[in-house]
Amino acid sequence: DSVSRFAENRAPAPLQVAKVGSHRATPLLHDRLRPQATTEAEISAKVLASGAADLAALFAAMEGFDACPLKKTATNTVFGVGNPEATIMLVGEAPGAEEDRRGQPFVGVSGQLLDRMLASIDLDREAVFITNMLAWRPPGNRKPTPEETSMCLPFIRRQIELIAPRVLVFVGGTSATTLLDNPAGITRMRGRWFDYPVRGGVSGVDIPAMPIFHPAYLL
Ligand code: URA
Repeated sequence: DSVSRFAENRAPAPLQVAKVGSHRATPLLHDRLRPQATTEAEISAKVLASGAADLAALFAAMEGFDACPLKKTATNTVFGVGNPEATIMLVGEAPGAEEDRRGQPFVGVSGQLLDRMLASIDLDREAVFITNMLAWRPPGNRKPTPEETSMCLPFIRRQIELIAPRVLVFVGGTSATTLLDNPAGITRMRGRWFDYPVRGGVSGVDIPAMPIFHPAYLL
């Protein structure tokens, strides 16, 4: 099936990635105001993500990306799962403990509720594609910082481009506000349609996107 077929591709050799920020000489004054490493990490992520021609290549690129501090404490790079041909793609926040342990998104208690939500509209995990904004678990399940989120943004944007779903579901406020660049908050945004602009893909295409409450919040 599509899930295990994709899982077979999961042991790629890590890409050679430029070490970010490790070669700097004396830090410049403005480093203390806006960490330069963040910008370099974002550029590195952008280059890696845009060069990934398919999902396996994108996963390999993320496995080789060492600039995100979350990766040091995480056990697994948690990539999306499900049907790569799916018309519906769900984007959560970040892996929790169970997700980090098993290397799969939404497999803990939140995931079980998400499964029931999908079942209530006659869908299951094989029919959709499920992923997160961030592939690495923030320690103690804290919220990802803006720096962590923005340096990982190129990876989720590319994942969306490669799946090219007809509908996006943003599960919770983090993916909704970040990917729609809309600070309104999940309570005001949920249940409404927004346009997610696909950058760098087919030009001028927006994907209809609906934010929903996160199952962890519902629980
Ligand atoms: N919460 C998320 O946002 N994603 C997961 O994968 C698990 C819990």
